[in-house]
Amino acid sequence: QNKYLAMTPPMGWNSWNTFTWNINEDLVCGAADALCASGLKDKGYEYVVIDDCWSLKQRDENGRLVPDPEKFPHGMKAVADYVHSKGLKFGMYSCCGTHTCAGYPGSFEHEFVDAETFASWGVDYLKYDNCYKPKHMDGEVLYKRMSLALRNCGRDIVLSACNWGNEDVHSWIRSSGAQLFRSTGDIQDNWESVKNLFLSQLDKTAFSGPYCHNDIDMLIVGMHGSSNNEFIGNIGSCSDLEYRSHFALWAVMGSPLMIGCDVRNMTDVTLETLGNEDLIRINQDIECRAPYCIRQWNNPENVMALVKPLSDGSLAICFVNFGDKKSEMSLQFWDMGISYAENIGLSFYNCYTKQDEGKFAERYVAQVEPHDTMVFIAKPVKLK
Ligand code: GLA
Repeated sequence: QNKYLAMTPPMGWNSWNTFTWNINEDLVCGAADALCASGLKDKGYEYVVIDDCWSLKQRDENGRLVPDPEKFPHGMKAVADYVHSKGLKFGMYSCCGTHTCAGYPGSFEHEFVDAETFASWGVDYLKYDNCYKPKHMDGEVLYKRMSLALRNCGRDIVLSACNWGNEDVHSWIRSSGAQLFRSTGDIQDNWESVKNLFLSQLDKTAFSGPYCHNDIDMLIVGMHGSSNNEFIGNIGSCSDLEYRSHFALWAVMGSPLMIGCDVRNMTDVTLETLGNEDLIRINQDIECRAPYCIRQWNNPENVMALVKPLSDGSLAICFVNFGDKKSEMSLQFWDMGISYAENIGLSFYNCYTKQDEGKFAERYVAQVEPHDTMVFIAKPVKLK
């Protein structure tokens, strides 16, 4: 077994946001096919994850979880084998409490038998939720218990802890052995939700790094109001521009990139957003450095720049405008510790247009449309 899993944030697809309970083997295998055919697999999306509602409501006589035979008539091993045959990895879902959030059996006090079951099916990734957790139990103990179980099950299985930022999870999760920690409540298919989840984690970026990543929830890019679940959103939705901003923010924050739309039916714009290789490179940078935030002095609530140092010495810079009016942001290089007096400036490469914008001496002035982002890779350069 490899002790070191998920050095960089995992990327893949998860069934929950669009399909919730309405899942089956055709959907999961179809999602695997679509990741390959769309080219997203080649860009790094590798996990195909089944979320809640896959099992029967009762364990079998040996205390094992049983896949619902109507949804998964060939069993889970067959689904895993199919996903693996496509060169992808397979993820499943359970919960640290007595039940999952949707009321199926949870892994509380079944951690070791469930880890063994998942390993026998060929599972590579486990999303581990937080519903129906007995009140007297400490979350840290329960996530550690599943982590121990996975480390002793004979198979490399990534542990994606999902306790929504409770119990100061950021302060103990790395030592628990999980590779991911969900720090937020559930995302909804609207801009307000994107903004709130992002802002809620700005002061927690220092707790994320290689091998243990802050998960600000799965992506809603490309859902266009198609969720099976009212809470996530099946009426309104984000615009394509807002989806692009959402993707940029998640990429720069170092969140896992788990697609939540129906990958079998994506528009060209959705595919372009999810497949932006520059943003994926920023997200997957091996040092996993946290971005820092520079706010505009006269409009600090709405317009800000996130700056993420990359391992090759360049800086990923993401301007975002949360406001409803077009706004300007003048980013002073000395605010990032770069001195123009020494004849050093920055070259700017635009990750959306794929154009070089030239060299700049003291500042870069970005005009950002409402709810839009602009993302650059800036490199220190001599000016003369
Ligand atoms: C919780 C999680 C979601 C999803 C559902 C499934 O709400 O936060 O991501 O897994 O449970 O019931």
